Amino acid sequence: MELMRSVPSSRYTSDSFAEREQRDVFSKAWIVASRTRHLMQPGDFVTVDGAGPSVFVVRDKQGHLRAYRNSCRHRGTRLLEGRGNVSAIRCPYHDWKYALDGRLRHIPGRDGFEPLERDSLGLLPVRVEEWGGFTWVNQDSEAEPLLSSLGDLVEELAPYRLEEMVPIQEAVWTLPCNWKALLDNATESYHLESVHNQSVQQHVDTEPDFTVYGDHHRLTLEIAGYEWRKWLDHRTARGGPYTDKQYAELHKYLLFPNFLINVLPYHLTVFQVFPDGVDRCKFVYGFYKRQGARGLEALRAYATWAASRWIWREDLAIIRQFQRGVMASEDGVHRLHNEEVAIAHFHAVLSRWINLNDTES
Ligand code: FES
Ligand SMILES: [Fe+2]
Repeated sequence: MELMRSVPSSRYTSDSFAEREQRDVFSKAWIVASRTRHLMQPGDFVTVDGAGPSVFVVRDKQGHLRAYRNSCRHRGTRLLEGRGNVSAIRCPYHDWKYALDGRLRHIPGRDGFEPLERDSLGLLPVRVEEWGGFTWVNQDSEAEPLLSSLGDLVEELAPYRLEEMVPIQEAVWTLPCNWKALLDNATESYHLESVHNQSVQQHVDTEPDFTVYGDHHRLTLEIAGYEWRKWLDHRTARGGPYTDKQYAELHKYLLFPNFLINVLPYHLTVFQVFPDGVDRCKFVYGFYKRQGARGLEALRAYATWAASRWIWREDLAIIRQFQRGVMASEDGVHRLHNEEVAIAHFHAVLSRWINLNDTES
């Protein structure tokens, strides 16, 4: 697959492009629904919005994860909101009730309908799988299994034991930008010198190493090799065994389409971005330390979190400004620098998923 050296600006402004993304990408790809730790007890549920039709995931009474369209089989009313725990799923409109395994259990005034096949009116199932401490859904019954879609990343990420990571902060924000603007910003180093010249720029090598894993990619930033840092690396790295690069370099993985993780042995950052129109998105953020972190390891995780919040403020300001500008621009193309190679890859993958070549307007 050829990288794109330029990207049509309409990808950040066009409603019809956003519709195609929903239909051809978000309704067909594996999407993280939640950290699995929010779904441990029978009846625990989370809803997922912005990635194709709304769905929810629930743990059933036998302990299995299930996912369904978030829509009643009577007249389509939305069933669940946010996150929580339920013993059954009840539609608020006319009180149809479903068991956690999706079966329709109760229809008020059933005699008032023409004869109904209750067994065929269960909740519509959606595929659900688990990996890395995350629960994923896929609305395409034909999609390849999650692990094969992740390919070699599964083995590469295994030493980090992502499922052991516990939150320092988890938050959800609505941001005034196209969902891709946030991911683009997080995966290019061309802006470090201008936007972060007082912060991160001084501590990393700005020629990142870029590796492709099918539709996904990894961006590796070399962190300045201070002696004290090497000393610290080995004292704050449980999990493993790690390679030298995993100890000392910052790895950002973009798992197509909308899941970005930034990982070192002692911390994990998670970005997930869901479209909400062309110029708005929902940003699900998490910063994690390893379970049981104490002393230097905990201190380092908290210090990194504080620094990353500072860097994020710098990024957020420029992302907002990008979106306001691009909405006012003429349709044209955005030319990409070598240090924007990850954007080039991401957009080429996007083109393939929505069946376009790079000449679309
Ligand atoms: S729409 Fe759900 S019970 Fe009527
Ligand atoms: Fe940045």
